[in-house]
Amino acid sequence: MRRPILAANWKMQKTNAEALAFADTLLPLVAEASDVDIVIAPPFTCLAKLSARLQGSPIQPAAQNVNPEASGAFTGEVAPGMLVELACAYTIVGHSERRSLYGEGDDFISRKALALLAHGIRPIVCVGETLEEREAEHTEAVVGAQLEGSLAGIDPADVSQVVIAYEPVWAIGTGRTATPETAQDAHAFIRSCLRDGFGNAAESIRIQYGGSVKPENVDSLMSQADIDGALVGGASLEAASFARIVNFEGVEG
Ligand code: PGA
Repeated sequence: MRRPILAANWKMQKTNAEALAFADTLLPLVAEASDVDIVIAPPFTCLAKLSARLQGSPIQPAAQNVNPEASGAFTGEVAPGMLVELACAYTIVGHSERRSLYGEGDDFISRKALALLAHGIRPIVCVGETLEEREAEHTEAVVGAQLEGSLAGIDPADVSQVVIAYEPVWAIGTGRTATPETAQDAHAFIRSCLRDGFGNAAESIRIQYGGSVKPENVDSLMSQADIDGALVGGASLEAASFARIVNFEGVEG
């Protein structure tokens, strides 16, 4: 049985004061959700204070990005060891916004994932096709290649630490969600790729769905066999909304 993982990706939103107020509102609302992993990925600027506030709570802090190098002349970048210092449990890599706006490719993403694993941080590796790719029926080719490239070099013994986020680009921030069946088809395909690459370990890898997840659709998405969690942008910015997602129907409390 895979433990569900519900993660908030705040992107470039919230000040420290807003992040702390959010945590204080959210914590009592998710107190009963003991059988899920709850993750918040704030901007880097909020990580130190939010992480301190969440210490000892069931909510785990995450980063939205990392540089694979240990240190050096990389202006604007943050190294894995710096995230360890902030008690980051997870880090998002390969988000479609980083792929499309900052030109990040699978090689770079796999180096990030490997560096995180070496530091005991679980990578959340994002994959997903654009609308044009889906309409041209290239979804499996695109997602398969992203998985192969982004997970290159990962030892099968470590791969259960990795979380995959399937985020169809056409569903991110658009209000347009994949139907539960469309998402399940993609997740089942992803799991078959993981089986090809990593054998039985594929059964323990959690695959999140992301792309306009909200309180209204989380239950039907989470009822699908291969959907093990959600990576949530817009609907994670308000505590009551994210709490409803964490407390999805079917979760054991
Ligand atoms: P969204 O973003 O929930 O606002 O669509 C999801 C994501 O980009 O991770």
